[in-house]
Amino acid sequence: MDLNAMEENYRQKNRTCFILGASGETGKALLKEIVERNIFSSITLIGRRQLTFEDKAYENLVQKVVDFEKLDEYAEVFQGHDVGYCCLGTTKAKAGAEGFVRVDHDYVLKSAELAKAGGCSHFHLESSKGADKTSSFLYLKTKGQVEAEIEDLGFERFSIYRPAVLLVDREESRPAEWVARKFLCAVSSVLPSMSIPITAVARAMVVDTLTDGEQKVEILENKAIYNLGKIGDKE
Ligand SMILES: NC(=O)c1ccc[n+]([C@@H]2O[C@H](COP(=O)([O-])OP(=O)(O)OC[C@H]3O[C@@H](n4cnc5c(N)ncnc54)[C@H](OP(=O)(O)O)[C@@H]3O)[C@@H](O)[C@H]2O)c1
Repeated sequence: MDLNAMEENYRQKNRTCFILGASGETGKALLKEIVERNIFSSITLIGRRQLTFEDKAYENLVQKVVDFEKLDEYAEVFQGHDVGYCCLGTTKAKAGAEGFVRVDHDYVLKSAELAKAGGCSHFHLESSKGADKTSSFLYLKTKGQVEAEIEDLGFERFSIYRPAVLLVDREESRPAEWVARKFLCAVSSVLPSMSIPITAVARAMVVDTLTDGEQKVEILENKAIYNLGKIGDKE
């Protein structure tokens, strides 16, 4: 696959996008990919706070700060974007069970609804390995439910990413995740299905965007993300 040719072809389409969660680990990596590849005519970051960037390459970004508890009041922020990326999320440890569902389900679903109403045709959702609306685990059940509910919105294209444990040097301290990450980094060559570098997730989201989707709804499990995420890497 010639990534440069795909980029050039996509650039001609003059598409616009928004990113939810651009301050997070995946969101940052995704934003970097998107800015460096210059594939959109406009990039809007939608988040709960204004972000600062030193790099001049980021100076044309549009930023919209919203109150996620009152998203209906910000419908116009979601209008006019062709593509939407959602890398929002929190943890039960950080926000409690209710807070987790509020962010990973309610904020995500409401954003998708507003994006659809605003004309978005391709929505990308970073979900999780094991997402399953019938699961008895709150995390997997919530991820599965939000996937299914967004599917029902009927986007022209809906790409769901189900990564395993994200490998990244996280800014925020998460001790349990740190231990798991160290272990998974060490065994990643023999157990590739248990983890994935965050840069591969970001690259996969971009490559998927550039590719003409054959299916309306695509579910990319960890291995598929890993394979797409390698495209364009120097051998
Ligand atoms: N960690 C893993 O190993 C793993 C594995 C599989 C899937 N996932 C999923 O992948 C997604 C991205 O994960 P990540 O680790 O890249 O995320 P992350 O670094 O924790 O970033 C989360 C993003 O969500 C935003 N956010 C969190 N709470 C919010 C709230 N109450 N209101 C508004 N915005 C809020 C954060 O904004 P602020 O910067 O303002 O806080 C940030 O932009 C999540 O849905 C996660 O469940 C993670």
